[in-house]
Amino acid sequence: MSFETLLTERRDRVAIITLNRPQALNALNSTVMRELRQLLGELETDSGIGAVVLTGSEKAFAAGADIKEMQSLDFVDAYTGGFIGGWDEIAGFRKPIIAAVSGFALGGGCELAMMCDFIIASKTAKFGQPEITLGIIPGMGGSQRLTRAVGKAKAMDLCLTGRMMDAAEAESAGLVARLVEPERLLDEALEAAAKIAAFSLPAVLMAKEAVSRAFEQTLTEGLRSERRLFHSLFATQDQKEGMAAFVEKRKPAFRNR
Ligand code: HXC
Repeated sequence: MSFETLLTERRDRVAIITLNRPQALNALNSTVMRELRQLLGELETDSGIGAVVLTGSEKAFAAGADIKEMQSLDFVDAYTGGFIGGWDEIAGFRKPIIAAVSGFALGGGCELAMMCDFIIASKTAKFGQPEITLGIIPGMGGSQRLTRAVGKAKAMDLCLTGRMMDAAEAESAGLVARLVEPERLLDEALEAAAKIAAFSLPAVLMAKEAVSRAFEQTLTEGLRSERRLFHSLFATQDQKEGMAAFVEKRKPAFRNR
């Protein structure tokens, strides 16, 4: 099977998925997310696969949701059309999925990495939720999963200032499970995935389910309210300004409206 925005490979019982939109630093548009969900759906029922590694390029795991695709969206379309609805189905993938992150994991890219079961990062990785700089907020779990992973102080810092956190800070904050030299990234993730894939599948699925349950209680409500807030920001002029400024490569002039 071939995809427009993904590369796929199998190594024994491990599937490797590589996000492949290099011209846009792997920005997550609707095609990427549709293809990713389709592929994961197939891997979930594929008895030959026991674990998945999701990765990007050396420069970017993913630099966020695609700003050019979101730029002209308004509130009513975002809300009634359920914009990004279903994107977080990835968090419901039942087999273990490891994010191997090098370079930028920003906005939706950071959120996608956090939907995986754990993150192995190269020392070059940079994490952040820069949505505030565009006049919006995280919409795919950033305000919820990041807060659970690193605590309120750092989550507030990242979501309110839009600053990036380097790989060492992300590891010490608890967002990253393992930090490795750039050239070790894929091998480290593949070895971890192969080890998991060699264990009993029912036990692995239940271990994932059990840990996820501890992590996710009350997450549903948090995500629901986050989605409403995220949609409503497409009613603001500042969202249009923030995204136009990005596309036009200039500083935004926010008017607080
Ligand atoms: C669309 C993007 C993009 C994005 C980068 N590009 N990020 N296109 N959406 N999120 C494009 C650029 O427009 C540019 O295209 C090309 O990728 C290379 O990017 P540069 O900016 O030239 O690279 P560089 O100078 O190295 O800067 C890297 C960067 C910067 C710091 C990561 O690209 C950046 O700030 N990107 C946006 C990060 C961001 O704000 N993410 C959050 C998005 S909102 P051209 O055509 O000019 O060459 C979000 C909401 C999630 O994620 C909520 C729901 C899913």
